[in-house]
Amino acid sequence: MVTELKSNIDIEVYLGQQKSLIDKYLKKIFIESNNYIEPKELWDAIRYSLLDGGKRIRSILCLASYETVSPDKTHLDDCLTACASIELIHAMSLIHDDLPSMDNDDLRRGRPSCHKAYGEATAILAGDAMLSLAFELIVENTKTISDSQKLKLISVLSKAFGLGLVPGQILDLKTSATQRSKSKIEEISRLKTAELIKASVLCGVIIGLNNNKSITEKALNETIIKSFERFGINIGIAFQIIDDILDVTSDTKTLGKTSGKDRDQDKSTYPLIMGIEKSKKMTEDLIKKAKSDLAETPFNISLLCSISDFVINRIN
Ligand code: IPE
Ligand code: IPE
Ligand code: MG
Ligand code: MG
Ligand code: MG
Repeated sequence: MVTELKSNIDIEVYLGQQKSLIDKYLKKIFIESNNYIEPKELWDAIRYSLLDGGKRIRSILCLASYETVSPDKTHLDDCLTACASIELIHAMSLIHDDLPSMDNDDLRRGRPSCHKAYGEATAILAGDAMLSLAFELIVENTKTISDSQKLKLISVLSKAFGLGLVPGQILDLKTSATQRSKSKIEEISRLKTAELIKASVLCGVIIGLNNNKSITEKALNETIIKSFERFGINIGIAFQIIDDILDVTSDTKTLGKTSGKDRDQDKSTYPLIMGIEKSKKMTEDLIKKAKSDLAETPFNISLLCSISDFVINRIN
């Protein structure tokens, strides 16, 4: 059961409940089904990277956006399928991000990263399988949404990955010190992180908004989608800036990943070029903007506003 939408929601409790709901759903697919058994090495590496740990923030945003726009919960199971797809894409991006040729990180979610536990070749292949499976799940496992909604989900997620996350990752790796500027770093954060967060929000909206409506209502839906897009980008950039701040201010145990990596690897991040305080102020401004984007829509936005506050107040 998804927690009821209420204005005085206890966000910590809500996030915990939603995380368990998503974890349970992922386990149902990847442990109980007989589809994912051989070759054992591959599926073990996928389960290792997908099932344990992770805040599930992208999925939580997908479910919360669905709850926000949808008058009922008819498509909740399909929304959970979209969440599984989002988590596959996100987890494979982390596997590849940790590889020696990328951030060369040995620790992820408090454990050895996938290539440390299973070897580099298996880690690369696990990521490849996860990316393709993300789309297969939307095609095969959704039951109540229309084919046109399925196509929209696939389009939104594949764009976020191929035209967002991957270009963002290459800019993250290749931007030299002399090319660094506030706008360049914003572009990197938007591409590598905010586009997938935006897509997660949009998946919930696409599933929740009834698409069999009159032309006037369709036009209204388009305006609503634009507001959610801006919301997703603004909280997505704030999410990455907080990740960059925590890399400087927090410790490896709290983060579950190696702290201080960005400076060691000479990465282009806001805290490294403009300091912690200015970076924090930027995240506050972005969250304000994100909330005003939502305020343009005709819905009760209290749940999404509470999640937005969590994005900048989180400790890991
Ligand atoms: C880490 O994402 C990578 C970034 C885009 C900053 P998360 O902080 O959402 O990682 P998990 O899923 O909770 O481990
Ligand atoms: C990763 O950014 C963004 C991805 C698309 C995976 P980071 O490299 O800062 O993420 P962490 O800090 O390793 O989780
Ligand atoms: Mg990286
Ligand atoms: Mg990294
Ligand atoms: Mg980081």
